[in-house]
Amino acid sequence: MCHTLEVWHTYNYKELKTMKLIRRNRILRQSPAIRAMVAETILSPADFIAPLFITEGSGVKEEISSMQGYFRMSLDYTVNEVKELYSLGIRSVLLFIRCKDELKDNKGTEALNPDGLMQRAIKAIKNACPDIIVMTDVALDPFSIYGHDGIVEGNEIANDATVDVLARMSVSHAQAGADIVAPSDMMDGRIIAIREALEESAFTKTGIMAYSAKYASCFYGPFRDALDSAPGFGDKKTYQMDYANRREAIKEVLMDVEEGADIVMVKPAMAYLDIIREVRDNVDVPVSAYHVSGEYAMIKAAAKMGWLDENKAIMESLTSIKRAGADLIATYFAKDAAKLIAE
Ligand code: PBG
Repeated sequence: MCHTLEVWHTYNYKELKTMKLIRRNRILRQSPAIRAMVAETILSPADFIAPLFITEGSGVKEEISSMQGYFRMSLDYTVNEVKELYSLGIRSVLLFIRCKDELKDNKGTEALNPDGLMQRAIKAIKNACPDIIVMTDVALDPFSIYGHDGIVEGNEIANDATVDVLARMSVSHAQAGADIVAPSDMMDGRIIAIREALEESAFTKTGIMAYSAKYASCFYGPFRDALDSAPGFGDKKTYQMDYANRREAIKEVLMDVEEGADIVMVKPAMAYLDIIREVRDNVDVPVSAYHVSGEYAMIKAAAKMGWLDENKAIMESLTSIKRAGADLIATYFAKDAAKLIAE
C-alpha cells in the first residue's frame, strides 16, 4: 500500500495537487462509451413478456381508463399487435380475456369452452405468428360472477375443486396451441395437478410458468378494471400472499419447482425486488417478475403530470427489475421499452 503510494507520487510531475488516490471509481463513469462497456445489466426485448387484453368483436380497441395508452382489443387488432411486437424483438405474449357477463358463472364453464375467446385467441395468434411464445392466464377470475380466482363455496374459495378446473383449463389451452400456461390463482397443489393433466393428455411440450410468489397487492387495481374482474366480496388474502412475508415466497417457489414449474414468477415487481433477488438465488429455473398494472399506472400518471420523464422511468424501472434477478419481465411497457432499446 505505502509502496504504491510512493510510486504514484513520483509520477506526479505537474504542480497539480491531486489527492493521490489509488482508486478513482469515476474513471469508469466518465463517458457514455465507458459506461456502456461496464454496464452490468442490459435489457433486451426478448426479456419482455407482453400482456394482452382481448375482448369479443372486431375492430374494437378500447383504452383502459386506469391504464392510459393500454388497450383492450378484439382479435383482429390483437393479431396485428402481436406481429408488431414480434418485429420489435419481443418473443412472448401473455393472454388475458375479458369474458362477457352473461357467460360468467361459479364453475369456470366458459374457461373450458373449446370455442371460448381464449381458445380462439390462442389459435389466431399462433396461426398469424407461429414463432411467438403464447402464454395464457390460468385462473377463474375473468369467468367468475364473484371475480374470484377460484370456485366460491359459502364465503370461501374452494381449493381442490378449483384446482380440478384449472387443470382442465390448462389442457384446453394446450389443445388450442398455447406454449406455456400461466396459473395466476395461488391455489395449493395446482402445479402438480396441471402437470399431471398435461401428461395424461400427452401435452409433453407445454410449459408451466407458475405465479409462485404472488402477493395480495393493491397494485392490481387497474388490471381489474381492464377485465372487469374485481372481487365482488372480500379480498384475495386467503390465497394470495401477505406482503409482510419473505421466507414464505421461497417456500412457495421451491414447492412449485418440485411440482413441475418450468418458470417461477414474483408479482408485483418493484415493491418486491428483495423477493426477486432471493428467489433468483434459491432456484435453478428462470425467474420472471410481473411489473403490474398499478406500477404501469403510477409511471403514466406521474408522466402525464409532468413530474417524471416517462421513458427514463420505464428504462430505470425495468433495468432494476432485471438487476434484482428477473430473467423475464411481464410488463405493459414491453413495446415502449423495445423501441427505446432499439434507439
Ligand atoms: C388474476 C390476475 C391478476 C393479475 C394477473 N392475473 C389480478 C388479481 O390477482 O387480482 C394482475 C396483473 C396486473 O395487475 O397487471 N388471476
